Amino acid sequence: MATHFVIDGLKAAIEGKEILKGINLEIKGGEIHAIMGPNGTGKSTLASALMGHPKYEVTEGSAQINGEDLLEMDVDERARAGLFLAMQYPSEIPGVTNSDFLRSALNARRGEGNEISLIKFIRQMESKMKELEMNPEFAHRYLNEGFSGGEKKRNEILQMMLLDPKIVVLDEIDSGLDIDALRIVSTGVNAMRSEDRGFLIITHYQRLLNYITPDFVHVMMQGRIVKSGGPELAERLENEGYDWVKEELGIVDETVGQA
Ligand SMILES: Nc1ncnc2c1ncn2[C@@H]1O[C@H](COP(=O)(O)OP(=O)(O)OP(=O)(O)O)[C@@H](O)[C@H]1O
Ligand SMILES: [Mg+2]
Repeated sequence: MATHFVIDGLKAAIEGKEILKGINLEIKGGEIHAIMGPNGTGKSTLASALMGHPKYEVTEGSAQINGEDLLEMDVDERARAGLFLAMQYPSEIPGVTNSDFLRSALNARRGEGNEISLIKFIRQMESKMKELEMNPEFAHRYLNEGFSGGEKKRNEILQMMLLDPKIVVLDEIDSGLDIDALRIVSTGVNAMRSEDRGFLIITHYQRLLNYITPDFVHVMMQGRIVKSGGPELAERLENEGYDWVKEELGIVDETVGQA
């Protein structure tokens, strides 16, 4: 079945404070959606709430992959259902090698009784690392420990390629990447484009979207998607910033309103 991802009226709070105020979004297999928006508007919160981070309390709404509600599932089940998140700030796990982490993530995705053999895993990992022009030594280092910003991001893409997810959420995958890494990571993402997979790409800069052409661009402000369009919307934001969107929609800055 072609992938169909629907977020409907999603609200989420952190420590009692509502951050997401009703997100609606539909992503079909083969589509790339980009979300842009000022700092602190809830973009990463959306990613974390979808993935089931315990700090984020979903208070209303649903998020379904092919009719199955993700929000009813625990984190492992979400991964098994095909959701993948590349985090804005990937965490370091000292004591766990990257290769061990990747293999358990892959086995969690595949489910019990369907684990991958060690030999097959190593072969797959090595070939993907080669595609991403990663030094093989990164397989044996502790997960993200001492990785540079760009190395962490590249490692997130390695995870994505191995896990073969249905819905991919990339949170600022371009931040900290040098020009060559941006090209390599984008090539990796483009190679993963397929009818069975949808992408949600959170970014601040139109530059990434020169490499990965989105079908839709959404603007998020104050916990809502306030405007949607095509790639030309990203270009206008890059050139003009967000003020015109606020003016057009009559959005008043919360901080200004409180002053
Ligand atoms: N764990 C947390 N505890 C308290 N507040 C939080 C937490 N996580 C997020 N917030 C608050 O929620 C709001 C939305 O944060 P979020 O990280 O989703 O923004 P963002 O749109 O991803 O911003 P950026 O573009 O800077 O990454 C911010 O005001 C932030 O301070
Ligand atoms: Mg963020």
